[in-house]
Amino acid sequence: MENLTQRVPALLTTKFIARHIEYYDSTDSTNEAAKRASPAPGGALFIAEEQTAGRGRRGRAWVSPRGCGIWMSLLLKPDVKPGYIARITLVAGLAVCRAIGGGARIKWPNDIVIGTRKVCGILTENTSRGVICGIGINVNTAQFPPELRAVATSLYLQTGERHDRAELIAAVMNEFEPMYERFLTDGFAPLRDEYRRLCVTLGRDVSISGAAALTGIAADIDADGALVVDTGTGRVTVASGEVSVRGIYGYV
Ligand code: BTN
Repeated sequence: MENLTQRVPALLTTKFIARHIEYYDSTDSTNEAAKRASPAPGGALFIAEEQTAGRGRRGRAWVSPRGCGIWMSLLLKPDVKPGYIARITLVAGLAVCRAIGGGARIKWPNDIVIGTRKVCGILTENTSRGVICGIGINVNTAQFPPELRAVATSLYLQTGERHDRAELIAAVMNEFEPMYERFLTDGFAPLRDEYRRLCVTLGRDVSISGAAALTGIAADIDADGALVVDTGTGRVTVASGEVSVRGIYGYV
């Protein structure tokens, strides 16, 4: 098994992101570990070999078996208005998408997909410790539980090759830091064009559930990172929400 603790630091080009790493052989959830840990600096990274109670958005479970994936959480201490915190998730999505490369695309706001299946999910939480950005990447998973097979994939299943987790963790961190710094000074606007190019949601039929339920065609990502939906009777800006995209994850 690769020794992540030693190999990740050697591959980093960052100044402060992931310069403090806490590594767990097994933990419930790296987001929870980051909340419980003794005070750590902004940029601290919490990585687990397995999560026994990995969490996804909206209370869903995140399957995190030993050694198969990257289960990690970044602790960030940004000096931004609370409304901007959700945007950090877009920056993280962009960093993961760049690091994976190839056919990886972003399903707004922050799922990374290859083809029609999800390879990475991001769970960002605002806590008293700071912003905790949890990233789960299915790297070398050979088989998913039956209920996930139609919607989940891994880099291994896509390429037939095992991927080096240490290299991928470092690549995500190395991509994230300069974008995050730019975001803190200039907001989302400088990242918008690249996000649009990589966003698989645009141009497709979408259905948004929750308080502001609506359907339409995803027309654009605005300068704040919100999704602009053409409903047929006008354009609606959606800042956050659960989005089904026709053609992705079995939505027909
Ligand atoms: C989602 O797509 O619903 C978000 C999934 C987030 C999973 C990651 S794995 C590392 C971190 N710890 C967790 O319990 N969840 C996040």
